[in-house]
Amino acid sequence: MLPSVDALLAAARAAAGRAYAPYSHFRVGAALLDADGGMHLGCNVESASYGLTNCAERTAIFSAVAVGARRPFVAMAIVCPDAPPAGGADGCSPCGACRQVMVEHFASEAPVVLDGNGSFTVHELLPHSFRLG
Ligand code: THU
Repeated sequence: MLPSVDALLAAARAAAGRAYAPYSHFRVGAALLDADGGMHLGCNVESASYGLTNCAERTAIFSAVAVGARRPFVAMAIVCPDAPPAGGADGCSPCGACRQVMVEHFASEAPVVLDGNGSFTVHELLPHSFRLG
């Protein structure tokens, strides 16, 4: 049985608890569902050289690719426990770099569930994305 959206959100929340975010103190967790129903997790991993930080979403995608998970990926849930309460429009929302990477790996109808901020397809999140060829 495929994990429910609630199960994906719970897994993303647990992953956020493992974030390495000593500089921003802003933890993020992501749970990705691959085309075989397997779940892959990510958290943000910061660096003292700030620009080397990897976001939770890309951690989950790269981790899934690294273990040979079947694409296109079919869902992702993202949780930001340190975002302001009630979200605000952008309390929990993937950055532009992650959106670009997501477009390349997700099915066009795949829901990207932003905790407390709704659910969007990757093309809604990033219309007119860059493509090679
Ligand atoms: N961050 C993510 O993990 N995902 C996003 O989509 C936006 C930002 C992380 C990066 C950094 O560790 C912290 O949140 C603050 O920017």
